[in-house]
Amino acid sequence: MKKSINNILSLLLVLSSLSFVAFSESFSSENPIVLPTSDDNIILPEIYDQDDDPIRIGMTYIIMNPNIGGGAVYLDNIGHLKCPNAVLQHVPVPGLMGDGTAVMFVRDKSDEGEVVRVMTVVYIKFFVETTPLCVNETVWKVNDEKFVVTGGKVGNENDIFKIMTTDIVIRGYKNIYKLLHCPAYVKCNAIGGSLKNEHFRLVTVDDQHFVPFVFIKA
Ligand SMILES: *[C@@H]1O[C@H](CO)[C@@H](O)[C@H](O)[C@H]1NC(C)=O
Repeated sequence: MKKSINNILSLLLVLSSLSFVAFSESFSSENPIVLPTSDDNIILPEIYDQDDDPIRIGMTYIIMNPNIGGGAVYLDNIGHLKCPNAVLQHVPVPGLMGDGTAVMFVRDKSDEGEVVRVMTVVYIKFFVETTPLCVNETVWKVNDEKFVVTGGKVGNENDIFKIMTTDIVIRGYKNIYKLLHCPAYVKCNAIGGSLKNEHFRLVTVDDQHFVPFVFIKA
């Protein structure tokens, strides 16, 4: 029984990160598309949600993998820890389905309402009711094992994420992106998925194995 569940989950993991195979050659995380304007300022493209509205700092979104086998991203406690800190992805399997946990994209400056653009600095913060004990466990970071977890800090240059466009096409979705973790002084790493102890955890991966994400207003 346990083995067959693991087989199903493994299949879903493959399905949930399939579409990159065909498209991974066509773009690179290091070369954001820039659109020069008439006065030579560089304006980076905006990031859009599923309603075609630009993503804004301080508004709430569900991050979702639109692939078959994919699902919404959520926060959970999978280690009997003091505070939940695992950043996981739902999958279409009974017991593992769900609506996700809303996030906000934030920055250390007060730029509430500003539009998020391609390859610009954001911090990702779960928007959840939390106990005073766990107030510092909502911001995403990447731990030493390459897992995305909470416990990051807005303003910490190792907890920076960026969003990159893709040319992935998935029926029923538009504006499909790649998430990148961009710690100080080293190259960005794409975010993908890893199956561990029957949980789909978000992890940093090499560029070919990223998971596509869309943003839905929460
Ligand atoms: C959360 O972080 C703030 C600022 O660093 C600190 O003063 C506070 O003690 C922390 N709270 C907990 C519960 O760890």
